[in-house]
This record gives sequence, structure tokens and C-alpha cells, in this order.
Amino acid sequence: MTSFTIAIDGPAAAGKGTLSRLVAEHYGFHHLDTGLTYRAVAKALLDAGLPLDDEAIAEKTALEIELAGLDRSVLAQHAIGEAASRIAVMPAVRRALVAAQRRFAAREPGTVLDGRDIGTVVCPDAPVKLYVTASPDVRARRRYDEIIAAGGSAEFDTVFADVKKRDARDMERADSPLKPADDAHLLDTSEMSIDAAFRAARDIIDAAL
Ligand code: C5P
Repeated sequence: MTSFTIAIDGPAAAGKGTLSRLVAEHYGFHHLDTGLTYRAVAKALLDAGLPLDDEAIAEKTALEIELAGLDRSVLAQHAIGEAASRIAVMPAVRRALVAAQRRFAAREPGTVLDGRDIGTVVCPDAPVKLYVTASPDVRARRRYDEIIAAGGSAEFDTVFADVKKRDARDMERADSPLKPADDAHLLDTSEMSIDAAFRAARDIIDAAL
């Protein structure tokens, strides 16, 4: 038996994390949020007081990351996401993390990987690829609402500017930029509930299984 991989890509706050968890649970597949691997490297560097712009140091840290204990609750901070998108431009870091992500993708009976380059680089042969997106305004609104709901404080304009900045860094980098794979199904969730997105994803996956 071989593993069945579902690749889910898209920009920050498009709803791909929630969708990936629902899909993985529904099909009984293993799930890897690959953003956490970049965040874990960033946090390890920040905690150790190491520079974020030294590729050799960041690569060494990336090679030591354990996929098992990754937990979004300790990696969610804005500063960690920001640092993650900085080290994510480094080819040596990407090489190290992509190797670990590919090993994960081979797990049976199947896997869901979500990130920015799963359908294009990590698992180009995945039988199902989804590209989940939403307008920058809608994504910033969701992120803002999350921060407020969690008891934090923020200015909508700042959150919006951050979303745009992260998009630019992820889409314009030379190595593995964020873009839909040619054979990805596009899912624009701007006007869609999570239930509707989940239904649409199931229809696409069921047709490929
Ligand atoms: O999705 P999340 O916000 O946790 O990802 C943090 C950062 O990690 C992203 O902004 C992106 O720069 C990077 N990333 C990436 N490739 C992936 C997943 C995340 O470059 N597959």
C-alpha cells in the first residue's frame, strides 16, 4: 500500500489550517502544518539569541527540528511568524525542512500537508492539490477577530499591512514562492463558511480517491 497525500497551500489566514485539520480527521490521515516547521526554527533561533540572517546557523537548527512535538499554541506569536517568513527565504533551511516534510508525507494510509509550496515543491505528485485563498481584506479581518477574541489588542490597519507584507515576502521570494500548482483546485473562501469549504474539499478528494 502506498500513502495518499493531500496538498493544501495558500496565504496566511486563508482558512487552510482549519480546513486541513477537518480533512485529515475525516479521512483518518496524518496532518502536518508545515508552517510550524518554519516557526519552530525561528523560535529556536530567537530563544537562543542567535541571528536570523545567518543561513548556516539556521540550517543547523532546521536539521535538528523534531516534527513530533510541534504545537501551534507555543508557536503562534506574531513575532515568531514574522521571523519564520524571514528564515523561510533561505534555500538551505528549506532543503532541510522539505526533506523532513517528504518523509512525513509518505506515512500510511495517507497524509494532509498544508503550507505554501506543498503542491509545487514538497509533494508535486500529490493526487489532490488544493489552493485555498481569500481576499487580503477578508484574511486580515479574520486575523484581527482572532486576536480580539483571544483577549489581545490590535489595530485593523496594522494587521492588514502585516498580511500584505507577509504575502509579498512569501510570493516574491526566489526559492519556492507561494503560488498555485498548475493542477491545483482553487478554493476562494472569501465568501464561504468553513463548512462550505470543507464540503467543496470533500467533493474534490472523494473524486480522486
Ligand atoms: O503558515 P504560517 O503562518 O505558520 O507560516 C509561517 C511562515 O513560514 C510563512 O509566512 C512562510 O514564510 C513560511 N512557510 C513556508 N513554506 C511552507 C510553510 C510556511 O515558506 N510550506
